[in-house]
Amino acid sequence: MYSADYKTEQIPLCYVPAEALRGVTQAILRTTDLVPEDADIIADALVTSELRNLQGQGQGVRRVRAYVERVRGREVDPQAPFEIVKESAALALVDAHNGPGTVMAVKAMRLAMAKAQQQGVGIVLVRHSTHFGSASYSASQVLGNGCIGVSMTNAGPEMAPWGGIDGVVGTNPWAIVAPTGDGPDAMPIILDMALTTSGKGMMRWLLRDGKKMPTNWAITADGRETDDPAAAMEGTLLPMGEYKGYGLSLLTDVLTGVLGGGGYGVIPYRDPARQEVAHQFIAYQIDWFMERQAFYANLQEFIGMVKASRTRPGVAEILLPGELEWRRQQEKLRGGVPLDPDVYADLRQLASEVGVPWLAAA
Ligand SMILES: NC(=O)c1ccc[n+]([C@@H]2O[C@H](COP(=O)([O-])OP(=O)(O)OC[C@H]3O[C@@H](n4cnc5c(N)ncnc54)[C@H](O)[C@@H]3O)[C@@H](O)[C@H]2O)c1
Repeated sequence: MYSADYKTEQIPLCYVPAEALRGVTQAILRTTDLVPEDADIIADALVTSELRNLQGQGQGVRRVRAYVERVRGREVDPQAPFEIVKESAALALVDAHNGPGTVMAVKAMRLAMAKAQQQGVGIVLVRHSTHFGSASYSASQVLGNGCIGVSMTNAGPEMAPWGGIDGVVGTNPWAIVAPTGDGPDAMPIILDMALTTSGKGMMRWLLRDGKKMPTNWAITADGRETDDPAAAMEGTLLPMGEYKGYGLSLLTDVLTGVLGGGGYGVIPYRDPARQEVAHQFIAYQIDWFMERQAFYANLQEFIGMVKASRTRPGVAEILLPGELEWRRQQEKLRGGVPLDPDVYADLRQLASEVGVPWLAAA
């Protein structure tokens, strides 16, 4: 019933050209007090998520208004410094001072890579940050730089501990990005996943689409199993992989907020003016471990082994992590980006409010 390539049957999508969407997103964000280069990073991150993810997953351009309003209301500080509090050759601890999480994440990943170029590995923890969007956006900074990248973040307490009812840990997504070659045409392996089975955005989407929900997504507010997205949205999310996903989520809080001296557990997003999100970034320099071309050759051999598996009934082919999103991205770049009609209307309204021409590059 549900798979990661879910397609809506009821919701009339609005197609817009990708470059025009990028142009209008960038122009809207540039009307705020964000540094123009930071506005462009956030616009690229939101449009990239819109291209890769499903409309209901919620990391794409539906966030433009919230990001603009948070900057306007100084719930996110557009001038916040990226302060390196403590540093060694391979490690850094950064204070984001409530600045834009997406920008802090990109800077932190670049710092981790610079350290990996010298030391083989670089690890950067970021505290006092804000929402950073898709974990794969920051982790993908490694592409073209000869590194493997890992990004993780904590998030609001939407997941109950295994056996519990109350939300105490987050969706806490991880992305691991491994290049399969040096050029832009080499599809990287990108595992980018929340540690909950799904999120509330996708439930809302199923509700609008008139669908039931798999029962391993969430429990009701009084802890019962449900396939009703409306009841589930009042409850708490279930971890992927049952108690294993709960354990991973808990340890993600340890590796980000607890170790980094930031927020954890029920603290992130409790105060809208102080999101207290914490992240961790790791870069591995491939050449330190083995010659890069040999790594790519081994990886291709490995991919061949994986793809050679016999498929189960009804399954057309074996996919790599990130392959679905890679294909989706190419399709949207070619044929237009299918937007949620509510997001289309809101973005158009926002553009007119801030005096930006609608889809000018179309
Ligand atoms: N910043 C935050 O607070 C936050 C919180 C939650 C999620 N997110 C983001 O939301 C996005 C969606 O996350 P999600 O967990 O819903 O993603 P998802 O469940 O759609 O996909 C998870 C991973 O599974 C892979 N996958 C899916 N089907 C596959 C198949 N058949 N074979 C092999 N691999 C397959 C995908 O390529 C992807 O890497 C991510 O970008 C994530 O970073 C962000």
